[in-house]
Amino acid sequence: MKRIGIIGLGEYFPDKVLTNQDLEKMVDTSDEWITTRTGIKQRRIVKEGQATSDLAIKASKSALKEANISAQDLDLIIVATITPDMQFPSVSCLVQKALGAKKVACFDISAACAGFVYGIAIAQQFLANSFYKNALVVGAEVLSSITDWKDRNTCVLFGDGAGAAVLSEVKRGGILSVYLGSDGSFADLLKVPAGGSRYPATHQTVDNRLHYIKMQGNEVFKFAVKYMTESAQIALNKAGLSCEDVDCFIPHQANLRILLAVAKKLGLAKDKIYLNIEKYGNISSASTATALCEAVKEKRIKRGDIVVLDAFGAGFVWGACVIEW
Ligand code: COA
Repeated sequence: MKRIGIIGLGEYFPDKVLTNQDLEKMVDTSDEWITTRTGIKQRRIVKEGQATSDLAIKASKSALKEANISAQDLDLIIVATITPDMQFPSVSCLVQKALGAKKVACFDISAACAGFVYGIAIAQQFLANSFYKNALVVGAEVLSSITDWKDRNTCVLFGDGAGAAVLSEVKRGGILSVYLGSDGSFADLLKVPAGGSRYPATHQTVDNRLHYIKMQGNEVFKFAVKYMTESAQIALNKAGLSCEDVDCFIPHQANLRILLAVAKKLGLAKDKIYLNIEKYGNISSASTATALCEAVKEKRIKRGDIVVLDAFGAGFVWGACVIEW
């Protein structure tokens, strides 16, 4: 089987910073509560009129530049998002147009915070088993558009941003293993109830604030720890590796306490975990993508390192991917 690896990464964050102190003026919360319960100090928020594709396009251009290939060389664009610009067409088609990629297949995937890991897994299959040579996988979100800024239980957690990766055949290293899982019986614990075919938008759904994220935080917390731990273990096992072999662990940046609990269960030292939750909060599918991009930029990952991407999100869905850099 062909070896598939990541040959370029990019990220983009909107300029506007929303700090915990700003949130103190919006809901009954405190910097102290948010910092100790989540590890988040600030998050980025789009300006009016800025949508998910705007962020995705900027991150994609950076990733293509770093990969040193042109949009014409792409065969596939996958965008993972739960906040598309609109119900359809897909964000990936808007990215395709902006990049001028002429010969690509395009689709979006809905795998919430595990979206980037799911996207990498799908792209790897296409590249390893077909005539496709280059794929662009993007995780992009404007979670501020589905955040209830009156609900202190959720509004302190989320932010906006985008990360992108170009995948191609590589001579050495690359993706060693992928593991994906799901359990839809927990669908009600984390969702946006209205705006789809079950409850199309009406005055009543808007009045009842049903177009915003609803979450049973402490339940989600427990399952996130369980499934992120299992995912990393299974993916490492599939690659014939163990936790001791990991050089850099890139978890979905959901909550610092979740990440530290996962690392403890895996027996990973704190300096092996890459954390940027303090700056950006939870940006769902963009989270692992941007964390990977920043870890590489900061030289926390070097050639030959064993990197683990690990994510969990609404559905529930989860997954992990082991990469030799
Ligand atoms: N500021 C101040 N107090 C807050 C608050 C806020 N922003 N949000 C909730 N509280 C209060 C609650 O009302 C509750 O008060 P009470 O005891 O008087 O009822 C108290 O803090 C504890 O609430 P609880 O929900 O048990 O806190 P927690 O320790 O579980 O932390 C989360 C809440 C949301 C931070 C945490 O559960 C979490 O991160 N869950 C996972 C979320 C997640 O990652 N989702 C995405 C998965 S991909």
